[in-house]
Amino acid sequence: MTFIHLASAIPLIASASAHISIYGVWINGEFQGDGRNLYERTKFNIAMNAPLRNPDWSYIACHTLGNREQPKWLEVKAGDTVAPEWFWTERGDFYTGNHVGPLLVYMAPAVSTGPNTPNIWTKLYHYAYNGTDHLWADDYFQKDATVTKGHHFITIPDVPPGDYLIRSEIITLQEASHLNGAQHYPSCVQVRVVTDGKTVLPGGVSFPGTYVLNQPGLRWPPEGTNNADPTAYPLPGGEVWKNSPGGGIYGLNA
Ligand SMILES: *[C@@H]1O[C@H](CO)[C@@H](O)[C@H](O)[C@H]1NC(C)=O
Repeated sequence: MTFIHLASAIPLIASASAHISIYGVWINGEFQGDGRNLYERTKFNIAMNAPLRNPDWSYIACHTLGNREQPKWLEVKAGDTVAPEWFWTERGDFYTGNHVGPLLVYMAPAVSTGPNTPNIWTKLYHYAYNGTDHLWADDYFQKDATVTKGHHFITIPDVPPGDYLIRSEIITLQEASHLNGAQHYPSCVQVRVVTDGKTVLPGGVSFPGTYVLNQPGLRWPPEGTNNADPTAYPLPGGEVWKNSPGGGIYGLNA
C-alpha cells in the first residue's frame, strides 16, 4: 500500500513544479535580486507556479499572494526598462516545450483593497505570434536563452508617483481547445514610481472580470474548430493603452 501511494505521489509533485514563473526583475539592465517572497506577489512552495485555469477566480489577478503586500518595493522612474526574468523549475532553465502562447503586461495602482479591485488595470504591452518566423511570445524566451535569459521588458510610463503593481502574464494554449483549458501564469511585481508624471493610468481592465471563460483567445482553437491560424489569434484584455511607451521580448526586439 505504502509503495503504491509513494509511486503515485511522485509524478504529481514533478508536474506541479514544472511550470513557469518570474524569478526576479532587471531594471535598466541591472538585476534586482531574487524577488520571490520579497517584491513579487507569488507564493513559492511546491506548487509555486502551477497555472490558473479559471479566469473567474480571484487569483487570476496576481496568483496566490495577490492581496498580500510583500516587504520590498522596487524604485523606478518613468522611462526605466523593467524586465522580468522567467524560469521553469530553477533559475536559468526557461523552457517552453509545448507550452506556447501570448504574453500580456498590465499595470495598476497598488490600491489598499488589493489587486482584485474592479477596473484598475491598464494594458501596457502584449504579443502573440509572429507569422514570419512562426514563434509565439514565449518561444522567444528560450531562443538563444543564454542571451535572452527568459526576459521580456516594458518601459515605465509617465505616471504620477506612487506604488504600483506590474502584472506580467503568460497564457499557454496547449490544452486550450477544452473549456477551462487555457493556463494562466500571472505574476505581479511591486514598483514604486518616484518621478512626477501627470499621465494617470486609465484602467478599465478587471481581474477577475475582463477575461471570460470560453472567450476567443482563451478557447483556442475556437470551439467547433480543430485548428486555427495563429496569426489570427485574438489577444484577450483589449487594446494596449495609447500612452504606453511599450515593451518587447529579448530575442525578438533586443
Ligand atoms: C517577426 O520575426 C521577424 C524575424 O525574426 C522580425 O524581423 C519581425 O520584426 C517580427 N515581427 C514582429 C511583428 O514582431
